[in-house]
Order: sequence, then structure tokens, then C-alpha cells
Amino acid sequence: MSKTQAKQEKINEPKANLIPIFLMGKRYDVPDTLTIQKATEYAGFQLIRGCGCRGGICGACGTVYRFANDYKLYYGLACQTVVEPNMYITQIPFFPANKAVYNIEELEPTAETIVKYYPEIFKCMGCNNCTLSCPMDIKVMDYVAAAMSGNIQQAAELSFDCVMCGLCAARCPAEEVQYNIAILARRLYGRHILPQADHLAERVKQVEQGRYESMLKELMKADKSQLMDLYTKRQLEPDNADEMWEPEDKSHL
Ligand code: SF4
Ligand code: SF4
Ligand code: FES
Repeated sequence: MSKTQAKQEKINEPKANLIPIFLMGKRYDVPDTLTIQKATEYAGFQLIRGCGCRGGICGACGTVYRFANDYKLYYGLACQTVVEPNMYITQIPFFPANKAVYNIEELEPTAETIVKYYPEIFKCMGCNNCTLSCPMDIKVMDYVAAAMSGNIQQAAELSFDCVMCGLCAARCPAEEVQYNIAILARRLYGRHILPQADHLAERVKQVEQGRYESMLKELMKADKSQLMDLYTKRQLEPDNADEMWEPEDKSHL
């Protein structure tokens, strides 16, 4: 790129304004184009916890914020929420949660199972705080109600987008851990209600019969550059591929 082009690109760059935000009560002036996560780093913090995928999937960056002179609390994922002037921000990278231990094979997909492991579900008072605090716009109160009534399928489907950020649990006056109830519902649904996929059963059988052992051994022998080469040259499935799509090289199927 020539110097003139570089200068022109610089001129064309959208200009970010510096705006005040407050992290742990201290003011920092940050570009208004940044997410809370990037603004926190811009302010000098190094995120070792409370930061994972940076793409709205892992749920590690649950955040609560308020604006000066506004009584309301707001919620978001730090990696997805763009800063606004006078945000008072606190990240909740971890929320302590009651997590039941069970063997899913031995359980029945019923309300009794949910209640056995999470009896506090009956303390739900229908306040809807959980739904209002969910950054994924999930109807949290509704999936809790569905689980309580034994509608495991509905609880599983309503909670499907949960990223386990913990914000709902942080706001629950009944001390529920909604997302762990939801995970139990989805496991019950997947293991005991949803019909088994024939193609998956077939593939599992092939794996168990050792069909992929030699390929795995080849990969184990490859060095880093060979692995990188294999990875970069692999044929990608097109975005618009239908379910019959297959790669040209079928030797690994
Ligand atoms: S916040 Fe707790 S008590 Fe309120 S509706 Fe949700 S689960 Fe029930
Ligand atoms: S249901 Fe709860 S844990 Fe799941 S994404 Fe919503 S607020 Fe986060
Ligand atoms: S860092 Fe994973 S959801 Fe924000």
C-alpha cells in the first residue's frame, strides 16, 4: 500500500468518540465503538477469567450495568454489548451454583426427577426476574415452570440457547439455579424422549469397530506442519450445502 493510500484509509476510518464508563467505580474514557470486554482491556485490565469465546457462546462474561441517574439494572454479555456513556459496569464471571450429580441413564424424564435433584424449584414465586436478566432473551421463568410441571420437552426447547452465564441465578429471590435445572431437562430429553438418530447409531458402531483407528494413528504420527497443512487444505462444507453433501475425498467417511 502506498503512503497516499495509507493516509486515505486513515482519513476514511470511522472515528470513535471517547466516552466515560465506570469499572469497579473508577472512570475510564474509552472508544464508543468497543464492547464492554474490549473497553475493559483498553482501560488496562487483563482478562484472565470471565473471558472465553469472545463470541457470545461460552457464557463466561455475564455483566450487570446501570447508568448514572437511572434506577434500572441492565444485563448483557461483555463480549457482545457495546459501551454507552456513563455505564457503571460489573462483570459476574462466576456465580456459585448448586449442581446435582446423577446418572442420566437411570433417570425418568418426569417432574419427580427434576424435583428430586432440585427441590427448591417449588420456591419459584413467578417474579420473572430471571427472564428479565437473561442476555439471550430466553423465557427463563417459562422453562422453570415447564420443568416443574414435567413438560421436559418444553423445558429443553425453551432453554436451548442458554449459555450458562449465571445472571438469572444471581437475580433469583428463590435461590434457583435455573440453568442447571435446564441442563437436566435437556439431558433427560436427549437421552429418554428424543428418538435415536439411526445415522448416529451407525456411526458409533463404526467407531467402536475401529474403522477410524488407522486414520487416528496417522494423525498421531504427523508433526505440527503436516497437521497445519492438512487443516488448511481440508475441503470445507459450503454454507448452502444440503444434507446429502459429501467431500470429494471420501476415504475418511
Ligand atoms: S427469578 Fe427465580 S423466583 Fe423469579 S421467576 Fe425466575 S426462577 Fe422463579
Ligand atoms: S437462562 Fe440464565 S444462565 Fe442461561 S443464558 Fe439466560 S441468564 Fe444466562
Ligand atoms: S466471552 Fe464467551 S460469551 Fe462472552
